[in-house]
Amino acid sequence: MRKKITLITGVVGEVGQALVKNLVERGNANLVTLDIRPAPVEIAHLSTHIQGNILDKSLLARLVSEYEIATIYHLAALLSTRGEFTPVEAHQVNVEGTMGLLQMAAEQSEWRKEPVLFIFPSSIAAYGMPNLKAKVDFPRVREWEWNYPITMYGCNKLYCELLGIYFSQYYRQLAAEQPIMLDFRCVRFPGLISAFTVPSGGTSDYGPEMLHAAAQGEPYACFVREDAIIPFMAMPDAVTALVNLAQAPKSKLRRCVYNVTSFSLTAAQIRELVVEAFPKAQITFKPDVKRQRIVDSWPADLNDDDARRDWDWLPAFDVKRSFKEYLTPNIVRRYQG
Ligand code: SER
Repeated sequence: MRKKITLITGVVGEVGQALVKNLVERGNANLVTLDIRPAPVEIAHLSTHIQGNILDKSLLARLVSEYEIATIYHLAALLSTRGEFTPVEAHQVNVEGTMGLLQMAAEQSEWRKEPVLFIFPSSIAAYGMPNLKAKVDFPRVREWEWNYPITMYGCNKLYCELLGIYFSQYYRQLAAEQPIMLDFRCVRFPGLISAFTVPSGGTSDYGPEMLHAAAQGEPYACFVREDAIIPFMAMPDAVTALVNLAQAPKSKLRRCVYNVTSFSLTAAQIRELVVEAFPKAQITFKPDVKRQRIVDSWPADLNDDDARRDWDWLPAFDVKRSFKEYLTPNIVRRYQG
């Protein structure tokens, strides 16, 4: 019999590293992880790691022949800044990669006669505010509002949300018999800040970069204006959101795609918090017009009422607790200890 497992793609990314640790702490032993990169030492012992490409069809075929995949956390993606430099590659990884996994999960759901649980992180990048006035006038966007992304990554995320809904509700809808469909659940994350890892290739990266540079005593030139505002969340809450959504009773979920957020800050406010933690921080502002435009297109805040109502979403780390209890002490330990 095939071993029943949870598959995590893109595990070497920031969310993946935090998620795999969290799942192991919760006693989840049967984890298989997949990434184009080798697993770093911090997480290598926590799972059966496969180094490979999600676009490799024979690799996916090998996975299903060896394992019964009950749950998939599909995290592999090229982020928003990186995607603008390599849009075709971003589309391949973000869309074709997701499509391949959804297809595999759909087939496995039929085969097992039980839905495969498919957890997908989407992003504020799925939104596109047309101008700063709209961003001010409509600060807390609902899931169905302003879905006009301006980045390849945002377009990819929004489309993959729709593909997930398609595969979980309408797949083979004209067939004589309705197949068992996969169970697709998705959160739209704000910018994420981790104490243990630094993001790469994103456009919300100025937040974490400011903090990590200050902790290392390095100067940092922030690539957006002081008044640039988007929502953020500390990494432990991001992981909690994924796991709690995965564990929520299906009957309670009235949507497939949920906003989640914790606090919204301007770049100047982030700087203040960083200077409070690291008084010697040397942070200047040197806006890059193009990356600024992307951040300006993201909403100032997210309305996450539906997640709170349906699966009791509540961030444990508000801005104060994020900095005082999670970010600052762990970053100090990381770089100074
Ligand atoms: N952090 C992501 C990015 O900046 C947004 O989801 O691309």
